[in-house]
Amino acid sequence: MKCNSLYIGTAVPNRVFSEWGKYSDVVTKSFNCFTPENEMKPDALLDGEGSRAALPESYTHAKIRFLSCEPIIKTAISTGAKVRLHTLVWHSQTPDWFFTEDYTDGGALVGRDVMLCRMESYIHDVLSYFIDNYPDLIYAVDVVNEAFDRDAGDDSGVRRKNNKWYATVGDDYYYQALRFAKKYSDGKFGLFYNDYACMYKPDMILSNLKNARDEGLIDGIGMQSHLTVGENLGLYFDAMKKFADAGYELQVTELDIGIKEKSKENLRLQAEYYGKIADGIASLKASGTNITALTVWGISDALSWRHGEYPLLFDENLLPKPAYFEFFPKLCGI
Ligand code: G3I
Repeated sequence: MKCNSLYIGTAVPNRVFSEWGKYSDVVTKSFNCFTPENEMKPDALLDGEGSRAALPESYTHAKIRFLSCEPIIKTAISTGAKVRLHTLVWHSQTPDWFFTEDYTDGGALVGRDVMLCRMESYIHDVLSYFIDNYPDLIYAVDVVNEAFDRDAGDDSGVRRKNNKWYATVGDDYYYQALRFAKKYSDGKFGLFYNDYACMYKPDMILSNLKNARDEGLIDGIGMQSHLTVGENLGLYFDAMKKFADAGYELQVTELDIGIKEKSKENLRLQAEYYGKIADGIASLKASGTNITALTVWGISDALSWRHGEYPLLFDENLLPKPAYFEFFPKLCGI
């Protein structure tokens, strides 16, 4: 079931493409866009050996390769799906060596200017690869992922803890990433800031992104939406409205809704909760809110990073759960 007015997507790990006969029916019937679960992250694209071997020429320009992206690119093109580029700049799943003088883990960190050169060349090379080779494939880019967290952040909430981007570039690393992505995007796709728990920190996100927004460097906010049944949906939709009122395009990027155990009652409550999300999005969209995509973070409970919480629309046997029947019809009526 596909919705003309929304991109409806799912996260897809490469293992699904290696068993495409098993998954293709469910995926192609329900979704028209894919997010690689891990295969376009920096730790998948950055080539440490190649970067070290190419020193000193590679000192400000790390080597990358796109081997991990081939299955999703091939399948998306053959099925007519679009792809979300997840993600360029993130404190996690980015190899430590990328930040060091000699590209070795544990080496001395480089300074701001060198790391900005490496950030710029990485963003340029990744975006150019898709623009040059697959100009119509990418519909959105998570330029920066999870940069704001009150507990792990500085006074403005910019993530400092376990963040080598902050340690090298500084507290404006996310702004610099947005600047470079805008410089090299050629207007081909939406440029997004993506984060979890947005409903609990909308003001922090809006405040930290204000300069980038005012300079036209960012198109939208990706609300990951890793939720649990019973979480306050009033806060969730209030945050959505705040982002929309600030002029952002909105996309739900990683929706999954956990339950404690797989009882009939919990599956019913989960379906009800998925239905409320769909109803809320449908009514916001009907009233003109610029919501353009919704991605669930996985095809089936068996593939989920939260598999112990049964959070998705299809069960471990790829059968639609009660949540599926509450979710898609409400979304696809819009
Ligand atoms: O590829 C290795 C494999 O070689 C190794 O044998 C195996 C066991 O150690 O690990 C494999 O890597 C795992 C990777 O997923 C690929 O399966 C990592 O350990 C594991 O940590 C990683 O988890 C991913 C997680 O991001 C990492 O932060 C999840 O699949 C992925 O769903 C999750 O997705 C993130 C979004 O990107 C950002 N928002 C939050 C969301 C949930 O954490």
